[in-house]
Amino acid sequence: MTASSWITTWAGLVPAGVRVLDLAAGNGRHTRFFAGRGHPVTAVDRDVSGLAATDIVEVIQADLEDGSPWPLAGRTFGAVVVTNYLHRPLFPVLLDSIRPGGVLLYETFMIGNERFGKPSRPEFLLRDGELLDLVRDRLSVTAYEARLISEPKMAMVQRIAARLL
Ligand SMILES: C[S@@+](CC[C@H](N)C(=O)[O-])C[C@H]1O[C@@H](n2cnc3c(N)ncnc32)[C@H](O)[C@@H]1O
Repeated sequence: MTASSWITTWAGLVPAGVRVLDLAAGNGRHTRFFAGRGHPVTAVDRDVSGLAATDIVEVIQADLEDGSPWPLAGRTFGAVVVTNYLHRPLFPVLLDSIRPGGVLLYETFMIGNERFGKPSRPEFLLRDGELLDLVRDRLSVTAYEARLISEPKMAMVQRIAARLL
């Protein structure tokens, strides 16, 4: 699967050379994308079978929802990237993981997506304005969208690009 157009559009906000955290990285489409731009990347997922460690890619296997300690305690990143994944209890630690000057790129499904298939359960769908609420008073918003997309498939998504000043 190719990188999300939201991520490729706003990748230029990420300062050159900073370490990127790709959370719930899946098969690593954004891990590879940022590594290809010369960023060291830390990719975390509970299933790391689709992720390959390299000289600049660190792969961490961790279940982010089973109550285990946060696997990146004490570490901060120049960018935190989350796509198609939502586990609200992680919101505070995600924000705390962004270093000054760093960027949050977050894109996932929102309410209304149930018309098009999965995910359809409320716990997996952002509420109206939820990503704006997440960063309010913490990050400066460069771009935000809540809309229907048709590629790679019809879906209702919310997405944000924001920076810690
Ligand atoms: C829909 S995929 C998105 C993958 C990637 N971010 C992308 O957009 O291509 C969701 C990912 O979340 C991971 N995931 C789901 N529950 C998880 C958990 N409890 N801990 C860690 N990763 C989890 C899955 O293994 C999967 O790789």
